[in-house]
Amino acid sequence: MSSHIVAKNKQGLTGTMHVPSDKSISHRAVMLGSLAKGKTIVNGFLNAEDCLQTISCFRQMGVAITQEDAYVEIEGNGLAGLQEPREVLELGNSGTTIRLLAGILAGRPFHSVLQGDASLATRPMGRIAKPLRLMGAAIDGRGNGMYTPLSVRGGGLRGIDYQSPVASAQVKSAVLLAGLQAEGTTSVTEPALSRDHTERMLRAFGVQVDVNGNTIAIEGGQTLTGTTLNIPGDISSAAFFLVAGAVVPESSILIQNVGMNPTRSGIIDALQDMGASLTIKHFDEKRAEPAADLHIQSGPLRGIELGGDLIPRLIDEIPVIALAATQAEGRTVIKDAAELKVKETNRIDTVAMELNKMGAHVEPTDDGMIIHGPTPLKGTTVNSHGDHRIGMMLAIAGCIAEGETVVENSEAIHVSFPDFFERLEGLY
Ligand code: S3P
Repeated sequence: MSSHIVAKNKQGLTGTMHVPSDKSISHRAVMLGSLAKGKTIVNGFLNAEDCLQTISCFRQMGVAITQEDAYVEIEGNGLAGLQEPREVLELGNSGTTIRLLAGILAGRPFHSVLQGDASLATRPMGRIAKPLRLMGAAIDGRGNGMYTPLSVRGGGLRGIDYQSPVASAQVKSAVLLAGLQAEGTTSVTEPALSRDHTERMLRAFGVQVDVNGNTIAIEGGQTLTGTTLNIPGDISSAAFFLVAGAVVPESSILIQNVGMNPTRSGIIDALQDMGASLTIKHFDEKRAEPAADLHIQSGPLRGIELGGDLIPRLIDEIPVIALAATQAEGRTVIKDAAELKVKETNRIDTVAMELNKMGAHVEPTDDGMIIHGPTPLKGTTVNSHGDHRIGMMLAIAGCIAEGETVVENSEAIHVSFPDFFERLEGLY
């Protein structure tokens, strides 16, 4: 277990930076490239633990993938080219890998076993097992398929119309990727629209996907054709520096080439509602995945209410939004976010527990939290609990806390942002 010490920043965080490439899109690039016929080139792959797990799984199924930092080449042999893995597929910490992969494997006429780390073992898999079984796949696992290790014997799928009880891109994508291999049409309807990277990328590979409100439909039997993909920076990683720039006095940070997919950009709306001086520059909306440069400057913030359809658009940013709220004038109420309980940790509990250790006033609720601000923070020993986003949020808290903050278990950050501390130090 490693820890990292962050000292209070006294003169403002300043500079121009890039953040690592988008994690969600990087996973999908490797997956769809592996299912396609022909060569796929990926520029801007996220060279971090979670996405490397995805590469390693497809290599185990016989796909030739070369990767050098952010550049990846995949020689796809089509869906039928995937081979039955001889060993257990290891997913590490990655919920996206296991759930999307289960959808792919549900359509393959072979057997596979999927397992991950201790955190992944606590995360619900019934949400994908249920629709994949309805389509005809044999899914088993601990607790009757509720938890890892999961086993999948796929093939012979039929299309379904699935009403997902949760707004989850992982569930939606698993069903769509199974639907690609099913007889007839498969549709998924979500209570609120989750991130749509799978839909966008399937189109880039030549697959037709129909969107009607919150219902996404796909016809089985379509083939993917290899392509070239350019992945922008991850807005979920940029979020830590946006909040840092907002709350550390005298800061001014420009973050270049940040993904601005509207299903992901809720953090921008939330920070602007809080009164942050955040400006969007060079917005390129024409890319398959839009991107922009974001400039943030420190200034006073006010408490806001967050809920409803906005939540899936900023679900991964809630820990760092909670930190911003500790510095905002008044109450911030976050509701409709019970999904936070089943992320890499129970993020309602871990955010409240760790920020309160630093002197914040965060009240956990059943579906979110209430943060009373502003509260000065004091440096102390805090813990990521093995959750990358909790670790990075606490490091940013350390920039404004009096004295020194020790972030324990800081190695967790490597799953999405390996050089996080170097980038932070670059702004000091
Ligand atoms: C992801 C979807 C979200 C998000 C996760 C990545 C994805 O999870 O929290 O970090 O890449 O599809 P859910 O789909 O479970 O909400």
